[in-house]
Amino acid sequence: MTTTQTDDRPVPILTGRGLVKTFGKVVGLNGADIDLFPGEVLAVIGDNGAGKSTLIKCFSGAHAPDAGTMTVAGNDVLFRTTHEAREAGIETVFQTLAVSPALDIASNLYLGRELRKSGVLGSVFRSLDKKRMRTEAAQHLQDLGIGTVQNISQAVETLSGGQRQAVAVARAAAFGSQVIILDEPTAALGVRESARVLQLIDDLRGRGMPVILISHDMPQVFEVADRIHVQRLGRRAAVITPQSHNMNDAVAIMTGALTVDEADQTLAPMGATSG
Ligand SMILES: Nc1ncnc2c1ncn2[C@@H]1O[C@H](COP(=O)(O)OP(=O)(O)OP(=O)(O)O)[C@@H](O)[C@H]1O
Ligand SMILES: [Mg+2]
Repeated sequence: MTTTQTDDRPVPILTGRGLVKTFGKVVGLNGADIDLFPGEVLAVIGDNGAGKSTLIKCFSGAHAPDAGTMTVAGNDVLFRTTHEAREAGIETVFQTLAVSPALDIASNLYLGRELRKSGVLGSVFRSLDKKRMRTEAAQHLQDLGIGTVQNISQAVETLSGGQRQAVAVARAAAFGSQVIILDEPTAALGVRESARVLQLIDDLRGRGMPVILISHDMPQVFEVADRIHVQRLGRRAAVITPQSHNMNDAVAIMTGALTVDEADQTLAPMGATSG
């Protein structure tokens, strides 16, 4: 019955095993596992406080877990800062959006990794290469098909919510080389704007970039996800797919009304079923 996890299964791009994170007496993670496979969109769903954000923050470098192990591309990792996670190719759009409203789009895209001018101007005087940042930022937005942004020098505070979200996702997509993590990217968005972000997620998958999408929006999850990780009480309660279960099942697992037998769980993609 039990098959050992070898050969025919793809190597996960990211794993977490037995992750524990407490905040004083509050338990954020209670032995959580997670697996993300190459090229897939993994949705993470669960009730408020189930530990979804805490889980992904371990991979974003925002939290160090108290216990447990994490791997990225087969290597053991432990990130102490968000910078370390970025260096490892993991880009996160946090639930509380981290853009600087007063800065323009290009500056936001390059926040924390500004391009310097070449030669002495850049290395000694730390002069920013604004022209190159603007050109490259425009190209990144173009690549992602965000045609609605008219002026790359526009301050982010003058953008619509959806455009702002697009900038945050563009930033992640431009720099993430291994994994893109999106924590509730559409929670504050309208229908059209949400559809746009969903399209971006689809585009990322099309480019072979694995995505972790945290969302409360069940129709959205069932539309875009290859697999669905259900988080409950600080741990992974089940992994299901839009093919194996419906939205009612998903909600029932989230609330504990339905439990999924370990043996039935779809822990890895079943061959070439996507697309
Ligand atoms: N920095 C923190 N300090 C104290 N408690 C925290 C902190 N971050 C998370 N928690 C607690 O850990 C638990 C899990 O929180 P988390 O934010 O991971 O939930 P979530 O699944 O993302 O919920 P939501 O759907 O509301 O975003 C909650 O009980 C929360 O109050
Ligand atoms: Mg959260």
